[in-house]
Amino acid sequence: MFLSFILLLLVFTPRADSSWWYIGALGARVICDNIPGLVSKQRQLCQRHPDLMQCIGEGSKEWIKECQHQFRHHRWNCSTLERDHSVFGRVILHSSREAAFVYAVSSAGVVYAITRACSQGELKTCNCDSQKRGKASDDAGDFDWGGCSDNINYGIKFAKAFVDARERTVRDARALMNLHNNRCGRMAVKRFMKLECKCHGVSGSCALRTCWLAMSDFRRTGDYLRKKYNTAVEVTMNQDGTGFTVANKGFKGTTKNNLVYVEHSPDYCLMDRTTGSLGTAGRVCNKSSGGMDGCEVMCCGRGYDTTRIKHITKCECKFRWCCAVECRDCEDTVDIHTCKPHKRPDWLDKT
Ligand SMILES: *[C@@H]1O[C@H](CO)[C@@H](O)[C@H](O)[C@H]1NC(C)=O
Ligand SMILES: *[C@@H]1O[C@H](CO)[C@@H](O)[C@H](O)[C@H]1NC(C)=O
Repeated sequence: MFLSFILLLLVFTPRADSSWWYIGALGARVICDNIPGLVSKQRQLCQRHPDLMQCIGEGSKEWIKECQHQFRHHRWNCSTLERDHSVFGRVILHSSREAAFVYAVSSAGVVYAITRACSQGELKTCNCDSQKRGKASDDAGDFDWGGCSDNINYGIKFAKAFVDARERTVRDARALMNLHNNRCGRMAVKRFMKLECKCHGVSGSCALRTCWLAMSDFRRTGDYLRKKYNTAVEVTMNQDGTGFTVANKGFKGTTKNNLVYVEHSPDYCLMDRTTGSLGTAGRVCNKSSGGMDGCEVMCCGRGYDTTRIKHITKCECKFRWCCAVECRDCEDTVDIHTCKPHKRPDWLDKT
């Protein structure tokens, strides 16, 4: 009995049920042996670079927040499960567009967090980019490298070694998909590096410029990857298992800078333990929107409930000499619409 139970557990425990993503939930207590789901290469890197792990953990909060921002109007909203080693639940086990996005944004998040920490001098193994020395030029003319250029190549190198390590232990369609999307994420950060300059010279004439390369706000990367989610490409594994081909024969161009996925997404309408979907019951929707956040789409046709709430705002503000601003409290009512839960089918009620 007991043995067959263990066997069942082994068979039904999916391979990706936990990952380095969980580092973010551990806060300051990153102890490499206690992180479930690290492969041995990751465990080694973890032991060798505790400061980098700290940085990856803190960075996780940022990219998870970015993911939730990008998907706030979607049925799947990038919600995390508290104290769950898999962080996003079973949803990510599916080789779907959503998984593609999470892999891309998470590896972008690692690049971003590490590169930023390098520049701030918080890490033992890296610093500002020492290659950016001497003279160079851009469209506006010559300049001197100065200040601190973000060392994006270090961030990319470490993110690649650490994040990709898990996918290098297996050879299947999912591993190839993850490797591809991880790379897209890393490159998305590099894409938004910008040159920042300071002018010197007589009364700010800008005859002399000192410049450095800096990363843009992580939002730029999030917006970009979100667009890539919309245009993600469905692929199937090659017969020899070395690569994938685009499922749609009419597709022109390359998958190089596109996210790829293997399986179609569930509709995320209902709570479903097998897909990990939380369903949209109780989600706030917008009655006048025809988009993803519209009540029709968000609630999957189940309808919505409306609650009227009072809103106090400051109004009729007057400036009084001198120096105060006096306002009245005005009461507003706002209607909040939330999706109805799923009706249980009749045959369930009878049992
Ligand atoms: C995401 O949706 C779930 C239910 O579908 C809800 O419980 C959760 O509060 C939502 N999270 C955010 C950040 O909106
Ligand atoms: C609801 O959708 C409409 C139309 O897209 C938009 O103008 C409005 O700002 C949205 N309201 C909220 C509260 O998001």
